[in-house]
Amino acid sequence: MLELNQVVQEIESADTLDALEALRVRLLGKAGEITALLKTLGGMSPEQRQSEGPKIQALREGATAAIAARKAALEGAALEARLAGETIDLSLPAPATPRGSVHPISQVMDELAEVFADLGFAVATGPEIEDDWHNFTALNMPESHPARAMHDTFYFPDKDGQGRDMLLRTHTSPVQIRAMLDQGAPIRVIAPGRVYRSDSDATHTPMFHQIEGLVIDKGIHLGHLKWTLETFLKAYFERDDIVLRLRPSYFPFTEPSVEVDVGYAFEGGRRVVGGSGDAPGHAWMEVLGSGMVNRHVIAAAGLDPDEWQGFAFGTGVDRLAMLKYGMDDLRAFFDGDVRWLSHYGFSALDVPTLSGGVGTPA
Ligand code: DAH
Repeated sequence: MLELNQVVQEIESADTLDALEALRVRLLGKAGEITALLKTLGGMSPEQRQSEGPKIQALREGATAAIAARKAALEGAALEARLAGETIDLSLPAPATPRGSVHPISQVMDELAEVFADLGFAVATGPEIEDDWHNFTALNMPESHPARAMHDTFYFPDKDGQGRDMLLRTHTSPVQIRAMLDQGAPIRVIAPGRVYRSDSDATHTPMFHQIEGLVIDKGIHLGHLKWTLETFLKAYFERDDIVLRLRPSYFPFTEPSVEVDVGYAFEGGRRVVGGSGDAPGHAWMEVLGSGMVNRHVIAAAGLDPDEWQGFAFGTGVDRLAMLKYGMDDLRAFFDGDVRWLSHYGFSALDVPTLSGGVGTPA
């Protein structure tokens, strides 16, 4: 009869997984040697079974355990060998002069996301190809509303499946509607992105960038709006002396509406924000549109305006970038001139953080 010691020895000397598997089949497979021994138990007398049974069982258990142990050892060794053979050399040198840079628009959008994340705002997005319901109607600009004519809209020739006119969004405000419909209230989001208007001169390009902000909650009032904008502008411009002036204005989607000015002065031939616009040598410049979200807009987005209130604001990202980093021609943003990009672009490693100063120039 088979000896457990011998069987174990044979298993331990199997030097490949294939050899071990062949051995397992030979011992424990359907027609295996130990399997055959187990089958003899049925034909034994009770006394014989009492003396032989435990030995045969011990043989089976011992062989099974030894095979499992050997298998683990061989697999471990195979993995070690593979790891040793597949090392990656992380010491390859980086290119001496970095090619490419992060466009100031991307950088500023990251800065804004960082500033607003600190105030508890998430980033929301919406499509650049919009329908006129989201872009206008839901924002309290029904068809034939005069404010629609203020946006020189690019329309598509065909309507969508629901019979809505399709267009390139003229502002980021439709993301307010989409975010409220998607997420309900309370909500705190910003929505940076591209917008389009049929307009082109030194200060207008047919595609430009806006950032929208939306807060909907209970008991929100104009004071929250002012504090939020002040905190945002101080963090973005990295100056404590930012002074805001809120002027009554009109937007269909807010009531009341306010336009927000910041004080600035000319320094070294360029506008530098800071100080009151009423101080000597200073003036006011409009930077934001905002207001308390109109109850029609809240209702259009499926919320009860008696329960929920909030504020919204919108501003041009390109303008914010120019004010902070001193570019004077908007069109250069979109020319792709490598000299401009290497001058105004940012290092990919210069990730904006509040602790590091959101926008330390490259
Ligand atoms: N959507 C406006 C525009 O494109 C900007 C704006 C003004 C957005 C007031 C707002 C707001 O959210 O409350 O000119």
